[in-house]
Amino acid sequence: MAGLKDYYNSYLCVFVILTITCSCAMASTSPSQAVKGGYWPSWASDFPQSAIDTTLFTHIYYAFLSPNNATFKFDISDSTASMLLNFTSTLHAKNPPVKTIFSVGGGGEGPVIFSNMASTGQSRRSFIESSIEVARKFGFDGVDLDWEFPQNPKDMENLGQLLHEWRAKVHQEAKATGRTPLLLTAAVYFSVDFFLSDVQRSYPVGSAKKNLDWINVMCYDYHGSWDTSATGAQAALFDPNSNITTSYGLRSWIEAGLPPSKLIMGLPLYGRTWQLKDPRSHGVGAPAVSVGPGSEGVLTYSEVEAFNRANNATVVYDSVTVSTYSVTGTSWIGYDDVRSTTVKIEFAQGLGLRGYFFWAVNGDHDWKISTQGRVISNVK
Ligand SMILES: *[C@@H]1O[C@H](CO)[C@@H](O)[C@H](O)[C@H]1NC(C)=O
Ligand SMILES: *[C@@H]1O[C@H](CO)[C@@H](O)[C@H](O)[C@H]1NC(C)=O
Ligand SMILES: *[C@@H]1O[C@H](CO)[C@@H](O)[C@H](O)[C@H]1NC(C)=O
Ligand SMILES: *[C@@H]1O[C@H](CO)[C@@H](O)[C@H](O)[C@H]1NC(C)=O
Repeated sequence: MAGLKDYYNSYLCVFVILTITCSCAMASTSPSQAVKGGYWPSWASDFPQSAIDTTLFTHIYYAFLSPNNATFKFDISDSTASMLLNFTSTLHAKNPPVKTIFSVGGGGEGPVIFSNMASTGQSRRSFIESSIEVARKFGFDGVDLDWEFPQNPKDMENLGQLLHEWRAKVHQEAKATGRTPLLLTAAVYFSVDFFLSDVQRSYPVGSAKKNLDWINVMCYDYHGSWDTSATGAQAALFDPNSNITTSYGLRSWIEAGLPPSKLIMGLPLYGRTWQLKDPRSHGVGAPAVSVGPGSEGVLTYSEVEAFNRANNATVVYDSVTVSTYSVTGTSWIGYDDVRSTTVKIEFAQGLGLRGYFFWAVNGDHDWKISTQGRVISNVK
């Protein structure tokens, strides 16, 4: 495997070229403020937005809102309306304040509604106008599209068109009202193309680069309950045997032409669990038989910490994948801790990325992991 240094060097060339060719395009947007984002699950009733330590973040995402599947407008109930107002007013009033963005869709939504919405000019217009109206009405600073995932080349083409029309409308609204333009971001697959799928398709990088402020690359869920035959590092930075890694994914986006200044690396504040076949064989990739503790084999980082303490689990840092696992008996948990997260943030810095985001802010334990970006000075 190529060392980190070679990796950085080859990227340096790409980065310098991109910086030069992109400086004109970038000049129209504000200078790249580092992004330290976090998604807040609105269903996390035991973790109110008021509990978020805003010294650790620049942008907090409200997860999630969904448009009506026939009109593609947002129907906001009274109870949701008061949650949205509470979210933005609470986070804007914090010291320091953070920017608030509402995220549309999410993993639970499914791809069909987006595919339908993006397929005609009229449905795109309804969606776009309603999203801007909601953002302004409830005091958000931007909108995030979390379409998981475009299924085919036509979806990708329509996504490109949607982003183009969305940006035009955002620009127009800001001009007409004299307000700061809304931020437009999107959560995307870890790789620019779906190379693992039978249906080959690739994101519309040109449109994303031109029309989005940045993209949130979901650098996790590489291994999980859908394959219980072996343990895995669900957010591996490297893997000598596979391209299902954060380094490969981020590199694919940069090589496709997305400037690092518009790339945000996703970091998981949760782990995935397995039941080992044999407790004596417990490395990354060890044989397993089923999922381990947690609903569908998922535990938040703070739950992992509690589990490890309660069970006197052995914690191992795996430098090959840059991940952490804990093992006790046949229970095996792959996750990121302070050490692996710190290496990843340094890696992001090495690539010149704009920043990182966490899924999700309620998963941390005493902000141990979220604090790492502050420990590493000058995250950019
Ligand atoms: C706003 O959220 C806080 C928690 O952050 C909660 O205590 C409060 O009751 C909420 N207010 C309303 C009006 O929903
Ligand atoms: C649209 O949403 C409604 C209400 O949630 C649901 O009953 C219906 O099945 C949905 N239709 C489609 C095509 O998904
Ligand atoms: C990873 O991708 C590269 C180029 O995209 C390819 O040459 C290589 O064979 C892939 N490696 C694996 C393990 O699939
Ligand atoms: C916890 O595990 C360590 C070895 O990993 C062992 O030395 C120690 O005795 C164990 N403690 C308890 C309370 O089981």
